[in-house]
Amino acid sequence: MKPVEKIWINGEMVDWEKATMHVLSHVVHYGFGVFEGIRSYEQPDGSAAIFRLEDHIQRLLNSAHILRLECDWTFEDWIRACEQILKVNGLKSAYLRPAHMSGYGKLGLAAIDNPPVSIVAAFEWGAYLGEEGMKNGIRAKVSSFQRNHHNAHMLKGKVNGMYVNNILAKREAVDNGYDEAIMLDTAGYVAEASGENLFVIHKGKAHTAPLANVLGGITRDSCFRIMHDMGVEVVERLIARDELYIADEVFMCGTAAEVTPVREIDQREVGTGHPGPVTKEVQARFLDAVHGKRPEYAEWLHPVT
Ligand SMILES: Cc1ncc(COP(=O)(O)O)c(C=O)c1O
Repeated sequence: MKPVEKIWINGEMVDWEKATMHVLSHVVHYGFGVFEGIRSYEQPDGSAAIFRLEDHIQRLLNSAHILRLECDWTFEDWIRACEQILKVNGLKSAYLRPAHMSGYGKLGLAAIDNPPVSIVAAFEWGAYLGEEGMKNGIRAKVSSFQRNHHNAHMLKGKVNGMYVNNILAKREAVDNGYDEAIMLDTAGYVAEASGENLFVIHKGKAHTAPLANVLGGITRDSCFRIMHDMGVEVVERLIARDELYIADEVFMCGTAAEVTPVREIDQREVGTGHPGPVTKEVQARFLDAVHGKRPEYAEWLHPVT
């Protein structure tokens, strides 16, 4: 991570090095907090635009609502903070990290009155699964760690502590020489990757796990629209593990990973072992859209003026 000048904390712009919180903060110990990952992109005229900012902020507020984590900052306040953090740091293509966390006070679990800490940081972050992966596809492993059950962890929220599950899966995959982990739900169906939703292309149709047991990804939703515009039918349904092995194409999508092809799963080639035509077209349209080269998706871009 390359430091920049400022981080927005509770309404103030604080120097990067001074952006600290108390080691006894509730979130540090129990992960009781929520966060977002958002990207901004430089546009053809040299300005910056934030991809689906309003949807991300709404999801942040929904996540806080699910946890019943009080938030005094309004929807508009968060939008302004995201715009300001880019401007103050002179960033255009960046990754933004808003978070709203249970702060310092009581260390007992309930800690209802602990004042929350709200932050928005932004910094440069290249292709999450690597440039090579974006181009030629990544290698993935079905994880031995199951996706949290939706009635154990609240999967519609991006909750800090919940990511221990994802980290275990990701580390297991990386330790075994893979790029990413694919997690099955507690019934054994394909859920999602450690930080991405997943699409399986088979016989011209796209298939993806139903929303009940995955994060409602904003990139996932964008891919729905793109594939609809391409004339590719998208079906939400339970997917068995071995369907991954016989798929024509598989791709992952998320804010960090954007649209990344998967070329191998559990040492089995996916399709031809190279990114397929549907994946390549979705990726190209998505990247054009975020870079302001597709007027039909202009409403996804929040200009930073
Ligand atoms: C577990 C998980 N699934 C899916 C996604 C993709 O969601 P989005 O496209 O909104 O970034 C993410 C990233 O936020 C994630 O952490």
